[in-house]
Amino acid sequence: MNRIKKAACLALGTVLSVSLLAACGSSGSASTPTPSASPSASEPVESSATFTTVESGKLHMSTNAAFPPYEMVKDDGTFEGIDVDIATKIAEKLGLSLVVDDMDFTAAVNAPAQGKSDMCMAGLTITEDRKKNLDFSDSYATGVQVIIVSQDSDIQGPDDLKDKMIGTQEGTTGYIYCSDDPANGGYGEDHVIAYTNGSTAVQALLAGKVDAVVIDKQPAQEFVKANPSLKVLSTEYITEDYAIAVKKGNTELLDAINGALNELIDDGTVQSIVNSYIKAD
Ligand code: ARG
Repeated sequence: MNRIKKAACLALGTVLSVSLLAACGSSGSASTPTPSASPSASEPVESSATFTTVESGKLHMSTNAAFPPYEMVKDDGTFEGIDVDIATKIAEKLGLSLVVDDMDFTAAVNAPAQGKSDMCMAGLTITEDRKKNLDFSDSYATGVQVIIVSQDSDIQGPDDLKDKMIGTQEGTTGYIYCSDDPANGGYGEDHVIAYTNGSTAVQALLAGKVDAVVIDKQPAQEFVKANPSLKVLSTEYITEDYAIAVKKGNTELLDAINGALNELIDDGTVQSIVNSYIKAD
């Protein structure tokens, strides 16, 4: 199976890495550049026990908050979701306060490398390509790419997507897999439309502009819940690992994040956050 092989390759090296770091947990000290300093201009000259952040006392998380239940905007304009809650706890452990910066997904992924955010947390899949500019934390969740179609569609699984039009969110792994050459298990660029958000891709499906949407399973289930004329196919397309990304080479911050994240995994906090958003079905 081409697609399965590819998923295994994308996820290569992402699982089971254990970080044993001197600076982990609540003892990490958040020394930061002065406000006027350019955050990305140079590597911080610090001991390995410290890390710097883009803004003093803050942990900036770039994300695309149209991805329920990982990140979404509440009616009052604040943010919630699994990633937001985990990031809030990580920031607390590091002695920082969390700032959520909502933007297009591609911008959110690029922000850490550009010094515009400290980390990207966005149901973000670890891929070899992204590792060129980013370093990933240990994985905190599994993502699965699934297919959404209308209730009366004759599409039953990935093989039926050939010659169809597929909607995806731009810059996501769903887009990357589907737009790949058929020889690599994709459907070819001509068969894929990239939308700004998952929800706009779903709107296009409802309007009959595409035959299917390929997107991560949890958001897919949320979108279908809100649109009863749609369904999620049970055939899973690809399995992947979600992690937090920092600028490549920002080992001090990554170590601190991993330390905090692993404490939150070990004491059950991450699981209880997940359970509060995803009810067992
Ligand atoms: N897991 C997919 C990826 O990394 C999709 C993530 C989209 N996230 C979002 N917040 N819109 O490409």
